[in-house]
Amino acid sequence: MRVLVMGARGQLGRDCVSVLGETHDVIAYDLPEVDVTDCAAASATVRRAAPEVIVNCAAYTRVDDAETDRQTAHLVNAGGAQCLAELARECGAYLVHVSTDYVFDGQRAPPQPYLPEDAPEPANWYGRTKLAGEQSIAEVGPRHVILRTAWLYGRHGGNFLKAVLRQALRDPRRPLWVVADQHGCPTWSHRLAHQIGRFIASRPEGVFHAVAAGHTTWYDLAVSFLGMMGLDRTVERCSTKDRPTPAVRPANSILADPRLADPDFGVMRPWEQDLEEFVRLHGAGIADEIRAEIA
Ligand SMILES: NC(=O)c1ccc[n+]([C@@H]2O[C@H](COP(=O)([O-])OP(=O)(O)OC[C@H]3O[C@@H](n4cnc5c(N)ncnc54)[C@H](OP(=O)(O)O)[C@@H]3O)[C@@H](O)[C@H]2O)c1
Repeated sequence: MRVLVMGARGQLGRDCVSVLGETHDVIAYDLPEVDVTDCAAASATVRRAAPEVIVNCAAYTRVDDAETDRQTAHLVNAGGAQCLAELARECGAYLVHVSTDYVFDGQRAPPQPYLPEDAPEPANWYGRTKLAGEQSIAEVGPRHVILRTAWLYGRHGGNFLKAVLRQALRDPRRPLWVVADQHGCPTWSHRLAHQIGRFIASRPEGVFHAVAAGHTTWYDLAVSFLGMMGLDRTVERCSTKDRPTPAVRPANSILADPRLADPDFGVMRPWEQDLEEFVRLHGAGIADEIRAEIA
């Protein structure tokens, strides 16, 4: 089956290319060769590829920058999604579009999760652009699924775990201060790529939440990760108000979707198990890269 992955050099895109490439004929695109905000140019490329499935991992993901770079964020996350929806409809392709926990404002008391049927209410501009992308796809109406995920980490690209490791290795004596009042589901991009493979195989439509099972805080995630890495570093709790950011972060980013508990369909695992496997497979490699970068 011919599967087109857009945003193929990003964190999730790279895992999708390698995981889906095991069983499908994968065509991979990213900037600069295909820009989803230039739909006329993108359309020629996509039509030539004639995919049966389009997986959209392309996005403007710099959440804080989006507050000031509003137009670009909207063009990519809303306009790009609309463009791919139109192209999917034209090609008769099934569209897998990746969205975010940030479509919710996170005001619900943790650990109560957000479910796919809950009404979105974004608290920042990035979330608003991602919600606009979801709505455009639904309006255009190709066969599609919207997968909301959260707190992604992976081997490629930048993420929270790499930022924690960079700080821990750069100055081993200085305590790390990590936000302890935001709750979410740390999700391994490699596992999510496998889950996307299941969606492609059975092609359900609508909105799904695809995150690791269980939940934690950034603080507990940092402590668990450094422990698994065998690094003895002091980690201190701080609160969101001690660390103001241009974009408001949801205090509760916990997502759940009972449909993914079906073992014939869902492959997501408890976050601790995935983190352990991630550290076993990639911990040493990532630490070497970061040591080389800060040397
Ligand atoms: N990271 C998270 O914690 C998280 C959480 C929830 C949901 N998500 C969603 O998960 C998806 C994948 O995230 P990720 O972490 O893999 O993001 P990422 O690493 O930033 O990857 C996004 C990719 O899209 C590319 N891109 C940006 N603008 C584009 C354009 N106009 N045309 C074509 N490609 C473009 C980026 O290229 P450049 O790098 O050159 O800009 C990058 O390669 C996104 O939809 C994101 O909203 C992520």
